[in-house]
Amino acid sequence: MYPARVTVQLAARSYDVAIGRDVLGELRPVLAALKPSSLLLVSDANVAPLHAPAVRAAVHGLAELHEFVVPAGEGSKSPARLNALYDWALGGRIADRRSVVLALGGGVIGDLAGYFAATLMRGVPYIQLPASLLAMVDSSVGGKVAINHAAGKNLIGAFHQPAAVICELAFLDTLPRREYVSALAEVVKTAALAGDDLHTVLDANPDAILARDHGLLARVVQHCVRFKAGIVARDETETTGQRATLNLGHTLAHVLETAFPDRYLHGEAVAIGLAAALGVSIARTGLAPDAANDVTRLLARLGLPLQAPPELDPARVLELLASDKKREGTSLNFVALRAPGRPELLPVRPDAGFAALLLGRDHG
Ligand SMILES: NC(=O)c1ccc[n+]([C@@H]2O[C@H](COP(=O)([O-])OP(=O)(O)OC[C@H]3O[C@@H](n4cnc5c(N)ncnc54)[C@H](O)[C@@H]3O)[C@@H](O)[C@H]2O)c1
Repeated sequence: MYPARVTVQLAARSYDVAIGRDVLGELRPVLAALKPSSLLLVSDANVAPLHAPAVRAAVHGLAELHEFVVPAGEGSKSPARLNALYDWALGGRIADRRSVVLALGGGVIGDLAGYFAATLMRGVPYIQLPASLLAMVDSSVGGKVAINHAAGKNLIGAFHQPAAVICELAFLDTLPRREYVSALAEVVKTAALAGDDLHTVLDANPDAILARDHGLLARVVQHCVRFKAGIVARDETETTGQRATLNLGHTLAHVLETAFPDRYLHGEAVAIGLAAALGVSIARTGLAPDAANDVTRLLARLGLPLQAPPELDPARVLELLASDKKREGTSLNFVALRAPGRPELLPVRPDAGFAALLLGRDHG
């Protein structure tokens, strides 16, 4: 049954996502078609020692391979690190317009190396080799690439679709447990947005998911990739509102990440934000409380947090919502659910009542 293949349908920019164990061999036909003059492998200091050897073996003999390793963590999505990549590729004369970038790592590497590829000589092809669960189920698919600026996350970026995505599930064997569990929040979010049997599969097998059962993991990653591929195919550049619904749970998540920079991993903040978005949905779009409970119960069974910390008060939430980049004029586009599988962009006025509702507290 596996490796599985999902195609992201984007006319001339269509590409395949291969998913399975021992699927790095998929690199050869993709690279054979691209006929690269050189390969520029970008990875981080955690992932490179563990998984670059397998990539080296998979591309052996195809083109000269050059490697650049950045420190692990969000700090590497910076103008300084991007400049270091340009210096390496251009100063070292190892790149030309037929070079291909290989992004081996989590979402940080996918975003950084993808933006590097988008801008190097007005754009060279790149291949996503996601190593984290978050990168496999979310960030490696869809072509959003970016670095951060002092003014905010992902503010310098582009849409640049990869030539292929190869989800080598064996990479997940070395992913730290907290990172793995955190990414499950995005999986649960996908299930709520899709409203199909993904939720049932997760709900019936939380322990097997947590144990990284191979068959189940392949199924879950494939499901998430197929769902995201469908949305990206319909709204590649986030203009019709469909792609924006993927931000379910992200309004409060961004507030938490800014208010407590070192406390939460992204998915942990999304889990709290998802629970909050379901609370708002019950109040504003008529989501059935039982449907919301199904989702929050699953988050809890996977070991994810549900509550914002008590020290976060509505006034601080309002202050941070004011800088939300999804804001349009005085209202905020909030992703709510009418029912599982039926998301909706809700224009809300970010006032004290909304902040209290988001935090699940009474507004006195
Ligand atoms: N482009 C998009 O559409 C999109 C979507 C969602 C998130 N993102 C971005 O993704 C980033 C978060 O991604 P992430 O959670 O993967 O973070 P990450 O890249 O920082 O990886 C998390 C940690 O796990 C380590 N790691 C990754 N894979 C490993 C493996 N196989 N074995 C051992 N260690 C491993 C990394 O070194 C890092 O320390 C954020 O910058 C976010 O903005 C982008």
